[in-house]
Amino acid sequence: MRAQVGIIGAGPAGLFLAHLLHAAGIRVVVLEQRSRDYVEGRVRAGVLEQTTVRLMHRLGLGARVSQEGLLHAGTTLCVDGDPFHVDFAELTDGGAVTVYGQSEVMKDLNLAADQRGIRILYDAAEVSPRALETDQPIITWKQDGVSRRLDCDFVVGCDGYHGVSRGCIPASVLETVERIYPFGWLGILSEVPPCNHELIYANHEHGFALASMRSPTRSRCYLQCSLSDSVEQWSDERFWDEFSLRLGTAFTPRITRGPSFEKSIAPLRSFVCKTMRWGRLFLAGDAAHIVPPTGAKGLNLAAADVAVLGDAFAAWYGAGDASGLEDYPRRALDRVWKAERFSWWLTQLTHRFPHMDTFDRHMQVAELSYLRQSRAAQAAFAENYVGLPLDF
Ligand code: PHB
Repeated sequence: MRAQVGIIGAGPAGLFLAHLLHAAGIRVVVLEQRSRDYVEGRVRAGVLEQTTVRLMHRLGLGARVSQEGLLHAGTTLCVDGDPFHVDFAELTDGGAVTVYGQSEVMKDLNLAADQRGIRILYDAAEVSPRALETDQPIITWKQDGVSRRLDCDFVVGCDGYHGVSRGCIPASVLETVERIYPFGWLGILSEVPPCNHELIYANHEHGFALASMRSPTRSRCYLQCSLSDSVEQWSDERFWDEFSLRLGTAFTPRITRGPSFEKSIAPLRSFVCKTMRWGRLFLAGDAAHIVPPTGAKGLNLAAADVAVLGDAFAAWYGAGDASGLEDYPRRALDRVWKAERFSWWLTQLTHRFPHMDTFDRHMQVAELSYLRQSRAAQAAFAENYVGLPLDF
């Protein structure tokens, strides 16, 4: 098989890129080791920045997100049960985020890929990019036990944190930076109405809690938990008890309890691979960086990476201009580090750390009190939460 750009991974980064390149007349093939059902069914992010929604519109994928996405023009922060509101629209000149699950984004991307004839090969085993330091890289894999090969000009690794692409970069040039947080998030999905019309980020002595949603009838709720916890230790009843406690009495009467139909624990990590290009290999999305979910930036960063990379490929194939491809790591990393900073900041402001002493706790409470009272502090929070412009 032959393509101009071979994309590894059919998650948001891979499929947004495939659509961008297809729209620019560039031939792509996407290889994905998992099944389509698995990728579409994965419960992940739920908050889209305006730049991500705009990218969907630009690609002609915006119909359903316009109809079904929930526009949130603010959020609530809560400190030991005492809430305050941050008005994004007022603080950022009309800014807002859209609550729309990653699985919905994936359905939109996949359906349009079918209609446009974008080639996505699922269930590809042993995917292996090779000859990346030459002008003729290849990707080999096995489909139904048969060895296959794709010849291409470039390979883009959109295969997530655990994917094979990053591992192809020699250790001598690979530069990574990491922070692991000493706790996880326990998340549930439940078919009950959310307890608030917007999200609630709660800091409580016991730890962080987040009230989110997927629709007016479906709640997505999280609790900070210990990394040694297992989902079996968290019955639905125990979850709702602790969730009510952390949100506090202002919200307790508005919490509808219901059975969870998804429950999982995820660790929190900040990670940046500074080597976003090596030879003819580019990395995008989670393959290159992980943020803790607190700032709701993961999916949006993936979309921003490929928006930049898509334009760079269009300039290369359209006008032989290599400057965009050369500049991709610098441009992407500039945005990545800002999102890393915001996600780290919001995490350390809202979570209980194991070795926190009385001083550390006072610092958190004082900063949250400052955020409650200062328009300047709220504006900085809101500007980052709704998302910095692509060319910031
Ligand atoms: C979610 O709805 O899954 C969600 C929302 C906001 C976050 C993280 C996750 O900060």
